[in-house]
Amino acid sequence: MIKTLEWTEQGVRFIDQTQLPTEEIYVLCPDYKSVATAIKDMIVRGAPAIGVAAAMGVALGARDATANSVVELRPQFDEICRVIRETRPTAVNLFWGIERMRRKFDELASLSVPELKRGLVEEAQRMYLEDIAACQTMGQHGAVLLPSSGTVLTHCNAGALATCGYGTALGVIRAAVEAGKKIQVFADETRPFLQGSRLTAWELTKDGIPTTVISDNMAGAMMKQGKINAVVVGADRIAANGDVANKIGTYTVAVLAKEHAIPFYVAAPWSTVDMATPDGDGIPIEQRAAREVTHLAGKQIAPDGIKVENPAFDVTPNKYVSAIITQYGVARQPFQESLKNLERIAKERSRETLEAPAGSQSD
Ligand code: MRU
Repeated sequence: MIKTLEWTEQGVRFIDQTQLPTEEIYVLCPDYKSVATAIKDMIVRGAPAIGVAAAMGVALGARDATANSVVELRPQFDEICRVIRETRPTAVNLFWGIERMRRKFDELASLSVPELKRGLVEEAQRMYLEDIAACQTMGQHGAVLLPSSGTVLTHCNAGALATCGYGTALGVIRAAVEAGKKIQVFADETRPFLQGSRLTAWELTKDGIPTTVISDNMAGAMMKQGKINAVVVGADRIAANGDVANKIGTYTVAVLAKEHAIPFYVAAPWSTVDMATPDGDGIPIEQRAAREVTHLAGKQIAPDGIKVENPAFDVTPNKYVSAIITQYGVARQPFQESLKNLERIAKERSRETLEAPAGSQSD
């Protein structure tokens, strides 16, 4: 399995996603500030991977803090969380990862400093394993929705590289292939950062899953020609009403899918669902540098000084979404209700995990 990110005693190790597909290079971030830079510069990217990277960054910062008491450690811990919080705004998993570390800090605050530090590192490592397990369970839930033979369109990269392993949307595809379904993939190239052509095509080809790259403006024509049977994408944040923020261009694909009566599925772990945000209007959209649009592989492709828009994400209204696949089950319209039901299951499962004997694992 691709090691998207990994906790080591020396720091957090990432595959450098800015160098793929031509170079497979790993970078070691020895402190929390370099983890924050890796998230900001998209060395690591994809909502679930960002969430666990954030948790590992917090654990690393806390582990290496110089405080002699928990009282002294708390303001240092708050500063570490602040720096990591400010890296990227849209993927709610980032904030989920930090909050979970905060809760762990509070829970262990009566212990000694070394015990507290150890507990924080263990929590980040647990989140890593839980993310892989969640992707595999999501894969099982989603695989049954795909045809026994057909072509699936995906946008951006929601694969092993966007998670701790296996992937969300690509996890659904992987599980369908493992179940014997004959699935081919159309990967939107996903301008401007090209996560589709650089990352999705790379990891699916490595797995031997037949993949065709198309430029983003080809999806409509392919649908009209009957070449696409389903769409599966990931998500950066899902509001309580089922509106979905995902990579810019997802909304266009969703509208096209509805026009052509093609099912549009979203696969995401529960850490991507933000029940505190009622609808998509409340989701902050990251604006990235103009250079991502005006330059391609370092070469200028637009006139000097041209005005540029570069929102990194868009919001797909829930009416375009056929189903949301999570590790706790599949939500369908009306999402307000179905997501509430899944939230109940999520709470029950996390209670069971807390009560489970040490060594047993949750999904
Ligand atoms: O800007 P990125 O590359 O971090 O955006 C990633 C996406 O939009 C993915 O589709 C999303 O995070 C789902 S990943 C499982």
